[in-house]
Amino acid sequence: VSVVLDREWSRAAATVVRPLKVAVLGFGTVGASVARILSERPELADRIELTHIFNRTIHRKRVDWMPPSVTWTEDIDAVFAANPDVIVETVGGVRPAGEWVRRALERGISVVTANKMLIATEGQALLHVSAASGAQLRFEAAVCGGVPLLHAVRDGLAGDTLTGFTGILNGTSNYILSRMGASGDSMADALDAARALGYAEVDPSADIDGDDAAAKLVVLAGVAFGRVVPLEAVRRQSIRAIRSADFRYANRIGHTIRQVAALERSGEDGDRFRGFVGPALVPEESAFGRNDGANNLVVLRGSYGGSTAFSGAGAGGPATAVAVVSDVLGLAGGRTVSTRTWSQGRLVPAAPTPYYLRFVVQDEPGILARIASALAREGINIDAVLQEPGYARDALVFVVTVEKCEEVALTTAIRAIADDSCHRAEPLALPMPMGV
Ligand SMILES: NC(=O)c1ccc[n+]([C@@H]2O[C@H](COP(=O)([O-])OP(=O)(O)OC[C@H]3O[C@@H](n4cnc5c(N)ncnc54)[C@H](OP(=O)(O)O)[C@@H]3O)[C@@H](O)[C@H]2O)c1
Repeated sequence: VSVVLDREWSRAAATVVRPLKVAVLGFGTVGASVARILSERPELADRIELTHIFNRTIHRKRVDWMPPSVTWTEDIDAVFAANPDVIVETVGGVRPAGEWVRRALERGISVVTANKMLIATEGQALLHVSAASGAQLRFEAAVCGGVPLLHAVRDGLAGDTLTGFTGILNGTSNYILSRMGASGDSMADALDAARALGYAEVDPSADIDGDDAAAKLVVLAGVAFGRVVPLEAVRRQSIRAIRSADFRYANRIGHTIRQVAALERSGEDGDRFRGFVGPALVPEESAFGRNDGANNLVVLRGSYGGSTAFSGAGAGGPATAVAVVSDVLGLAGGRTVSTRTWSQGRLVPAAPTPYYLRFVVQDEPGILARIASALAREGINIDAVLQEPGYARDALVFVVTVEKCEEVALTTAIRAIADDSCHRAEPLALPMPMGV
C-alpha cells in the first residue's frame, strides 16, 4: 500500500515509501480510542504508524496496551521536531489546540481534528492556511461523530444543489428528551440518567443549551454550502424549560419534542440562511420523532435529489475515533479532498412557522381572553387550546397552538403576555417546523 513521503504528496505521483507518521495530541476519550484502534488493527500498520502521544502531565495517561515504539510526551515542540506527516488533534477547545493546528498546517503537516468548536470559529481561516501550504485539514469527526456525514455531503451529494438541512446533532439532548417522552421522567431525572450512562458531562450546558449543536450546524453549513455562518449569530434556545407535561400536550396533537438544528438557504443569492437550534415539536411518526437515545439524524435537502437522511452514533470515543482514523486513512491513500475554502454567509430571521405555547398560571377568570387579545394585537391566529384536567389552581398548565407567524411578532406578543401577574413560570414557545 502506498504512502508518499514527499509533503507535496497531494499533488504528486504516488511512490511507495512508508506509512504516515501520526502524532495524536490529547489522550482523552477520543484520542485514546484512536490509539486503541491503531494498536488493535495491525493491518493498518503499512499505512499508519502512530509515533507520538502528546498530553499534559503525561504520566497519568500511560497505558500498557500501547506499542513500545510510541513516544509519550508533554512537550509540543518535541512533537513538531519529530516532523510527523499527520497531527491528530483531539485536545478540544479553541486555545491552545487552534494554535497547534495552525502551526502544523503552516509547516505542511496535515491535520485531522474532531474539534467542532475550532472548525466552527476558525475553520474559514484554517482552510486558507491549508490551501496555501498544501497540507490537508480534515474534520469528519466534528459533526455526527461516527456517521460519515461530511464525506457523504462533500462527495456523494456534490452533484446536487443543497437547499437546507434539519438535524438532531446533539446526542445528549436527544437522550434526555426521548427519555422524558418515553418514561414521563422530569428533566432532572433524565439528565441524571444521561450522566450515569456517560452521555452527559458534569456541566451539560454546551449540550442542552444548544452551543454544541450550533457549532456542528456551522461546520456542516461550511461543507454543504461553502459558506460560514457566524456561530454567535445562530439563534439557540435551551431545552432546560421543557417539562414532562409538554410531552403529554405534544402527544395529544401527534407530536413529540426534540432538539433540532436547522438551516435553510434563503433566496437565490447563496449567502443568506435561516437557521436555529433548540427544542421543537416534531411529528411523533416522523424520522425525527422516532429518533431515540443518543442517536444523531440529519436530513439534507437538495434541488435535484430531494431529501437524503443520515443516522448513527454521534458521539462516544470509539465511534468518533472511527471517523478520525478514516480521515487519516484517506490521507494515507493519497486521496485529496476538494475542501473548498469558505466564504462569508449571514443569518436572516426565521421563516414564519406555527408555534406551541405553554403557560403555567395561577388560575383566574379571563386569562385566556388576555392571551388571545395579546396574540391578536400582533396578528397571530390561535389554532387550538389544550388543557388537561387535574392541575392545582395555583399551577395550572395549559397550551395554545398558533398558526404560522413571524418570530418577531410572536416574541412581542409573548413579552406582553408574560407581564401578566398570573404567570407562575416563563411562557414557553416552541416552533413546529414545517416539512420535518
Ligand atoms: N467525546 C466525544 O464523544 C466526541 C465526539 C465528537 C467530537 N469530539 C471532540 O473531540 C475533541 C476531544 O474530546 P474528548 O471527549 O476526547 O475530550 P477529553 O476526553 O477531555 O480529552 C482531551 C484530552 O486532551 C488533554 N488536554 C486538554 N487540554 C490540554 C492542554 N492544554 N495540553 C495538553 N493536553 C491537553 C486532556 O488532558 P487532561 O486529562 O489533563 O484533561 C485530555 O486527555 C473535542 O474537540 C470534542 O469536541 C468528542
